[in-house]
Amino acid sequence: MSSEKKEAGGLSTTNALNDSPFMRACRREPVPYTPVWLMRQAGRYMREYREVRARTSFLELCKTPELAAEVTVYAAGKLNVDAAIIFADILLIIEPMGLDLEFARGEGPVIHNPVRGGHDVERLREVEDVGALDYVYEAIRQTRRALPSGLPLIGFCGAPFTLASYIVEGGASKNYVHTKRMMYDDAGAWHAMMSLISRALSRYLNAQIAAGAQAVQLFDSWVGCLSPDDYREYVLPHTRSVIENVTTGTPVIHFGTGTAALLELMREAGGDVIGLDWRVRLDEAWRRLGDVAVMGNFDPIALFASPDHIRRQAQKILTQAGGRPGHIFNLGHGIIPDTPVENVIALVEAVHELSARQVSST
Ligand code: CP3
Repeated sequence: MSSEKKEAGGLSTTNALNDSPFMRACRREPVPYTPVWLMRQAGRYMREYREVRARTSFLELCKTPELAAEVTVYAAGKLNVDAAIIFADILLIIEPMGLDLEFARGEGPVIHNPVRGGHDVERLREVEDVGALDYVYEAIRQTRRALPSGLPLIGFCGAPFTLASYIVEGGASKNYVHTKRMMYDDAGAWHAMMSLISRALSRYLNAQIAAGAQAVQLFDSWVGCLSPDDYREYVLPHTRSVIENVTTGTPVIHFGTGTAALLELMREAGGDVIGLDWRVRLDEAWRRLGDVAVMGNFDPIALFASPDHIRRQAQKILTQAGGRPGHIFNLGHGIIPDTPVENVIALVEAVHELSARQVSST
C-alpha cells in the first residue's frame, strides 16, 4: 500500500483534493485545464452499469454501498472525468418522510401515497435523524477510499421544489397541476411541507459531507416550470435555507433546467456554482450571474452527433467561458440511455485537450 493510501483522510489527501482542478474551479481559482464531469455519468448508457442492474433493482443498487461505490468509481475511471458523483437518487430521502417510493420498470418513480393538501402534510415525518440513509453515507465512505486520492466526490440531493413536485404529483409530471394548485390554494400547507423538506435536506447534505463528500449539488431539475414571481414567493426562501445550512467551506452547486428566466433568483438563493442548461448561452448567463462559478452547458442530446460536432460544440462552450476561472464543464442535464459511450469519452478528451493552458504556480 502506498503511503498516500494509508493517509486517506490525512493531510496529503486533503491537499490533493483541495488543489484538484474541480475544487479550484468551484472557488474560481485558475486551473491547468477546465475540469469536466457529467450528470448521470453512471447510468444505463454504460454496458457495465446495465450488467450490475441485470442482477439488482435500482433501489437495491442504491441501498447496497458496495455496489453503489463500484458503479460510481467505475464510471469516473472509464470516462477520466475530474469529479465523481455518488451513485444514489434524489428521491431516497422521501422514504424516511413516510412516502412509499417505487421505481416501476419503464415508468420511472412512483409515490403511492402522494401529498395533496394540509392533511397529508401533517402525516409527513420530520427527518430528524437522517440515519435512515446510512447506506448513502457508507457508499460515500467506501467510494472515497476507492477513488484516486486527488479525485473529488460530489454528494447531492434534490432541491425542495423538485422533490415537492414528486411528492405531490406522485411521480413525473408534465404540467405540475397538483403541485401548483397546492402552492396557490394552500400556501400554508405548501410552506410547511417545503420547510420540512428543507430541514431534512440540510441534515442529509451535511451527513454526506461528514462521510467524505468534497462538494454537494442541489438538483432543481423541474424548477423551470415556474414563473419568476412564483419562484421568489414559493421556492427561493426554502432553497436558500438548505444552502445556508450546508457545512461552511464545502462548495455548493445549484443546478436547474429551463432556468433562463430564473438565473438571478437562483443566484440569490445561493450556491458557489450555478448549473446552466443549453437553452442559455453560457457567456450571457455568466454575465447576468456575476461573481459566481458556472457549470455547463453541453446539450446531452448532442452526444448522439458525430465526434466532429461534439468537439466543435465543446470548443464553442469553452470559447464562451473564455478561460475565466470558475467554469466547470458539464452537460446541461443528465446523459440519457442509448448515448454512445465512445462519444461521451470523446467529449471529456476534447474538453481536456482544448482547454489545456499554462497556470503559474503562485
Ligand atoms: O449522476 C450520476 O451518475 C449519479 C446518480 C444519479 C441518479 N439520479 C441515478 C439514476 C443522480 C444524480 C440522480 C438524480 C435524479 N434522480 C434527478 C435529478 C437529475 C435529473 O436528471 O434531473 C431526478 C429528477 C431523479 C429522479 C429519477 N430517478 C428519475 C426521473 C429517474 C428515471 C426513471 C427512468 O427509468 O428513466 C430515476 C432513476 C435513475 N436514477 C436511474 C439512474 C441511473 C435509472 C434507473 C435504472 O437503472 O433503471
